[in-house]
Amino acid sequence: MAPLLPSSVFASLLLLILLCVSPSAIHAGGDRIPSTLDGPFEPVTVPFDLSLRGNAVDLPDTDPRVVRRVNGFEPEQISVSLSANHDSVWISWVTGLSSPQFLFISNSGSIVRYGKHRYPLRHEAKGKSLVYSQLYPFEGLQNYTSGIIHHARLTGLRPDTMYYYRCGDPSIGAMSDIYSFRTMPASGPKSYPRKIAIFGDLGLTYNTTATISHVKSNNPDLVVLVGDVCYANLYLTNGTGADCYSCSFSNTPIHETYQPRWDYWGRFMQDLIAKVPIMVVEGNHEIEPQVGGQTFVSYSSRFAFPSEESGSRSTFYYSFNAGGIHFVMLGAYISYDHSCNFAVSLYTFNCVRMLGPLVVVSSSTIFVSLLVLFPTFAFYSLLKVLS
Ligand SMILES: *[C@@H]1O[C@H](CO)[C@@H](O)[C@H](O)[C@H]1NC(C)=O
Ligand SMILES: *[C@@H]1O[C@H](CO)[C@@H](O)[C@H](O)[C@H]1NC(C)=O
Ligand SMILES: *[C@@H]1O[C@H](CO)[C@@H](O)[C@H](O)[C@H]1NC(C)=O
Repeated sequence: MAPLLPSSVFASLLLLILLCVSPSAIHAGGDRIPSTLDGPFEPVTVPFDLSLRGNAVDLPDTDPRVVRRVNGFEPEQISVSLSANHDSVWISWVTGLSSPQFLFISNSGSIVRYGKHRYPLRHEAKGKSLVYSQLYPFEGLQNYTSGIIHHARLTGLRPDTMYYYRCGDPSIGAMSDIYSFRTMPASGPKSYPRKIAIFGDLGLTYNTTATISHVKSNNPDLVVLVGDVCYANLYLTNGTGADCYSCSFSNTPIHETYQPRWDYWGRFMQDLIAKVPIMVVEGNHEIEPQVGGQTFVSYSSRFAFPSEESGSRSTFYYSFNAGGIHFVMLGAYISYDHSCNFAVSLYTFNCVRMLGPLVVVSSSTIFVSLLVLFPTFAFYSLLKVLS
């Protein structure tokens, strides 16, 4: 279910550039993807295979991988994201039920217990929680309020070290299982993560499950999702979906979404992203317009971004270090007026000044000036990192 919009093309290209660094990787199917240590490789561009288009089928809401498997306030949809440096990460999770009305009566605490050993987990981080709503003031459309979304930041972590954690609310006995993740190596010119999986247009189709199995079997240290997450916006609020929204539902008063698809996606992805950090930047499928002209509310609420830590204050652009790589994540949807233009340019310039290879990941082409300025440098650096 991936309509080929400009951002999709861009993301797909990025995916190809990264995963197909070696000719042997192109036809390898389930084979092992070579690591940077196997290089250097000549960069290879693979044309898009048009036969892959239009045959993707979404996982239904009855699939065991997307149904809610917890009780009460037990955590679900658990994920790890990086902060700006190796010494800190975010843990995110969801508790409680979503509902068609705003029913935020009871809360649950946002606690992560963590440490270098599985037992005992010596450290504790306290986070924050929020709920968001997706509201449509039109006859016949259904509203949605999320479960309670928690984000907690762990600090004081050592580089390239395995940590164990569980999240939830110990005061009501609602803690998750124990998961583990590895921190990024310390920043430095010879210090890199071994494997980074970069993909876009992920969705939640049977093909998504094949992609994610492939990613898992290659044990990446980091996962980067350059826009287009779960495609909830290919559905009406009553849960009816279509490959092409505008062809099938041309008469709707607003572009509807079916927000439970986000929960399905979070459940399906947990197996990977509760262990491997994921960094996300928005794509056009995350716009999700609703009451009061609000957009990107689900995207901005469900993921943790190192925005504050990296000086951006926006969920649309931020930066972080992964060993010697400095990622600048530039989403396409920050309003492009003079002040923002200046702020983003300055931000990027400041990021660029830092030493070491640079990777610019963007999901679209709005930052024309930046992309004109940096693509050669960015992709060259990216390939250099890989080789
Ligand atoms: C959904 O929320 C909007 C905005 O608050 C409201 O106008 C509308 O009546 C609600 N729809 C339903 C079905 O409750
Ligand atoms: C995508 O999934 C469908 C089944 O839904 C399958 O027929 C098709 O071969 C898959 N495509 C690829 C490229 O794996
Ligand atoms: C959802 O709404 C569409 C358009 O009104 C309709 O065709 C479809 O049958 C509805 N589906 C359900 C499950 O109510």
